[in-house]
Amino acid sequence: MFNYLTDVSNVLVIGCGGAGLRSAIEAKFNGLDVKILGKRSRFDSHTVLAAGGINAAFGNLDKNDSWEQHFVDTYLEGYKLGNPEIIEYMTKNSPDLVKEIDSWGANLEKLENGKFDQRFFGAHTYRRTCYSGDFTGQTILKACLRKAEDLEIPIFDSQYVFELLVKDKKCFGAISFNIHSGEKTVHYADAVILCTGGHTRIWKKSSSRKQENNGDGFYLALKAGCSLIDMEMVQFHPTGMISPKEIEGKLVTEAVRGEGGILRNVHGERFMKKYDLERMELSTRDIIAKANYNEIVNGNSTENGGVFLDISHKDKDFIIRKLPRIYRQFLEFQSLDISKEPMEVAPTAHYSMGGIKVSPLDHKTCVEGLFAAGEVAGGLHGANRLGGNSLAEILVYGKLAGLCASNYSKKLNFQLRDQMTVQKLNNEFEDLIKSGEHLAIPLQNELSDLMWKYCGVVKNEEKLLEGLTTLGKLKEKSKFVDVRVSDNNFQDLVNLFDLKASLFSAEATLLSALQRKESRGAHQRSDYLSLDEKEKYNLEVKKVGKNFEIYKNGSVKLNKKLNKLVSKSKNILNFKNKLLE
Ligand code: FUM
Repeated sequence: MFNYLTDVSNVLVIGCGGAGLRSAIEAKFNGLDVKILGKRSRFDSHTVLAAGGINAAFGNLDKNDSWEQHFVDTYLEGYKLGNPEIIEYMTKNSPDLVKEIDSWGANLEKLENGKFDQRFFGAHTYRRTCYSGDFTGQTILKACLRKAEDLEIPIFDSQYVFELLVKDKKCFGAISFNIHSGEKTVHYADAVILCTGGHTRIWKKSSSRKQENNGDGFYLALKAGCSLIDMEMVQFHPTGMISPKEIEGKLVTEAVRGEGGILRNVHGERFMKKYDLERMELSTRDIIAKANYNEIVNGNSTENGGVFLDISHKDKDFIIRKLPRIYRQFLEFQSLDISKEPMEVAPTAHYSMGGIKVSPLDHKTCVEGLFAAGEVAGGLHGANRLGGNSLAEILVYGKLAGLCASNYSKKLNFQLRDQMTVQKLNNEFEDLIKSGEHLAIPLQNELSDLMWKYCGVVKNEEKLLEGLTTLGKLKEKSKFVDVRVSDNNFQDLVNLFDLKASLFSAEATLLSALQRKESRGAHQRSDYLSLDEKEKYNLEVKKVGKNFEIYKNGSVKLNKKLNKLVSKSKNILNFKNKLLE
């Protein structure tokens, strides 16, 4: 007998952050029946953590800004690894999407003339980042939720999707269990959109919270037959909190530096002048993260192992108006008034710049009927992401994936079902519930220690190989995890699937980091200190049987028009190469 529920929709969206909501809204606008599954409460998805703003080249304060300049900044600051078509589409479309989200109630900060205010964010040529204080992600999420509610889009919280339904390289839905009741549901759908975020929680110090961003979307995609690209490109945000331990890595938004915050080492030296004299604290994240790291490991750290970030020279009212969340965060966790004293900060794993390989102009994967958008998708950021581009990405590509997935559904001649596949997955799930000699949480903790130690801000071959060996032992242990369920407790299953996803994501990352023998953007190797033009490729990882296979693909070339744009602008990369030497 079946021990699961079934339901049907045209488009199934997995993930209830900004990308998931925006894609569902578009599918609904396109006249289709759409449903969203989320793991957490819909009001508390990962998007709430995005703080400082969303980029759109309005030129409200700096008249010369344009989508072209936004393109150039994104492409060059990503060390030419981002996909030009993906970047072009984002930079052209983000202004409309920002206007739209504001009209849905995001209430972004305005100038006296009614236009959007725009703040500086690192390495943007112009003030381009629209914002709501330092809680922009939260206001965007709320606006999307209100719209989804108006459109009566069903959203199911507490659903852990553990497999996609795939037959002959065609996706026809997903299977989930309810985290609180254990009840399983088979969701049949014409098209599925993965909007499940990244994998930066698998590092010990991370700006994500526990039990989010464990790479579950990467796991589902790899098992379904998709490829991941640029997995070695993991962004370390320069400024995470260093205490208390339970929240180590929590984000201290770039908006602090955008609003005038200054970095100093324990000797009071404003050290950014050694690393990027021109842009100082508004340099790129890769350069500032490396600078903070260098100061910390070279004996210039504070007693607690960080560097100082100081905004106390600004007026208290200004700080509370522009950075209300950060002001409260330090009071709450450290009893520290940032209008009087500096913060202590250190790099923290923040964003998966790589992800599922998608085709640029529809965000479909190589599995028919399966699409991806937001942090889970690769291609936009290359080797370094500009702050504020992620919120633009979730709206622009959420909308596009919703449109393309629903168009795909409309063109289908028949709806695929395969009972054998469903039954097999259901049986495999039941087989996981068994006693075993290991517990998932300690293994997960060992994994995050491993990733921090062997695949952190600066890597080398020796460390990465050691990381892979240790990972092999964890994989072995993960086969014997104790999983017990009772009427009111299914947490062991959540922990087990989080662990499985984390192990897959870690392996793809370690293998890619080992393969790239150069330092480029967020990928810093102490055994290959320079950027190497011969290494200008995108790495693609696939799961073939039990093993991962890895391929080098020449990075996508600029077309004539974009090439002209880029060659006109000053050569940021030469400047950066000098810094790396
Ligand atoms: O620092 C921040 O506010 C983060 C923004 C982003 O990652 O885009």
